[in-house]
Amino acid sequence: MSTETTTSAPIATIASLSAHEGQTITLRGWLYNLRASGKLLFPIFRDGTGTIQGIVPKAAVSEEVFETLKNLTLESSLTVTGKVRADSRAPSGYELDVESIAVLQRVPEDTPFPITLKEHGVDFLMEHRHLWLRTPRQSAILRVRATIMRAAAEYFDTNGFIRTDPPILTPNACEGTSELFEMDYFDDDKAYLTQSGQLYIEATALALGKVYSFGPTFRAEKSKTRRHLTEFWMIEPEVAFLELDGLMNLAEGFITHIITRVLESHRADLKVIGKDIAKLEAVVGTFPRLSYDEAHAMLDEAHKAGKIEAPHKYGDDFGSPDETYISSQFDKPVMIHRYPAAFKAFYMQPDPLDPSKALCVDVLAPEGYGEIIGGSQRIDSYDLLKSRIEEHHLPLDAFQWYLDLRKYGSVPHAGFGMGIERAVAWICGLDHVRETIPFARTLNRIYP
Ligand code: 4AD
Ligand code: MG
Repeated sequence: MSTETTTSAPIATIASLSAHEGQTITLRGWLYNLRASGKLLFPIFRDGTGTIQGIVPKAAVSEEVFETLKNLTLESSLTVTGKVRADSRAPSGYELDVESIAVLQRVPEDTPFPITLKEHGVDFLMEHRHLWLRTPRQSAILRVRATIMRAAAEYFDTNGFIRTDPPILTPNACEGTSELFEMDYFDDDKAYLTQSGQLYIEATALALGKVYSFGPTFRAEKSKTRRHLTEFWMIEPEVAFLELDGLMNLAEGFITHIITRVLESHRADLKVIGKDIAKLEAVVGTFPRLSYDEAHAMLDEAHKAGKIEAPHKYGDDFGSPDETYISSQFDKPVMIHRYPAAFKAFYMQPDPLDPSKALCVDVLAPEGYGEIIGGSQRIDSYDLLKSRIEEHHLPLDAFQWYLDLRKYGSVPHAGFGMGIERAVAWICGLDHVRETIPFARTLNRIYP
């Protein structure tokens, strides 16, 4: 197989056609769709950067070109040469007057490409995820995901943060052992896949001041919801001398930057995906901040007014319907702070004004997408942290190094984690996180 073309026309991509209007160019890609109407063929080509419709009148091309295209199977790979013509009715703004075509690999007739334009069930699509990725909507989601990841890292890179990568193989749990993937680690030892880099970047933050980590994290929790993956990507900043208010400012600036970048370069993709762009445009400026108590009062009122079915019990975490109701009251992400310490992680600093509350924050995305960020100020007292580790029945030995951070120059510090897939689901308006990552790992799927 060779990618050499039969003509000397310059190679172009569909995304760059505006620079080639009126010229003859060669595209390298695949046959996405084909319509025939008598002596006219309308193939749609895709090349990874977009799709373009070709026009092939029988009289305008050689018999061979016409017959080759007319009988070509979907997703066959090819190079096609033609003249770029502006057409305001075309989704990409251009059409291609096809001159010649060279087929690289023809998909056999008896094993046609399994994904067609008709509706397929989700299980079928996930089973064929390696091919589903080729469809325009899935490709658009992955492009937006890439920008979200780049913008997220860029925000910290350009604001004085040092990227420090924590280990993926860890000797103990960050937030309890029930959600850990365990594996053998030589000579009868056990290791666990990380569920958060936080504890390690607390150490690097006390070395470098402002740090972040960005990598895959793992949760073995048996949750089968539209928000849970067993493997997901988390970006986590951690900052020395930062307290809860500063942490909320950081989260606000961070999310605003990501949305700005997505709107800058993905309006066309968001349209293909079907996201209401106006909803993203509303996400600028300051985000509402509610304490747990205020959020509870809001739910209480809503329940009394018959706006939500189940009452929220004071002291309990918010359920998914609670979060959906709260976020539906605002058009921006909502920050809920100072949850009861009782159901939050052991390392969270108690609120000095009410030690039953933790100095923590969850950011809920608009439109019912739920929690996208979780973070807190960390306990900085050695004695308090030690007693919390004991109360939570965590192995003190394993946390000795973590306690050291409170022994040698302890300072107030804070950080948060944002799951990339939750952010992609919200920003793209997707029903389920399985479409937010190339190959989702969930409770009941690890293929392909
Ligand atoms: O709220 P979580 O569990 O917080 C932590 O792990 C902290 N140690 C982070 C920190 O303070 N540095 O997780 C943080 C975020 C959630 O808000 C959510 O976006 C995402 O990680 N997340 C998941 N995403 C997909 N699937 C799952 N099972 C997720 N669990 C958490
Ligand atoms: Mg959380």
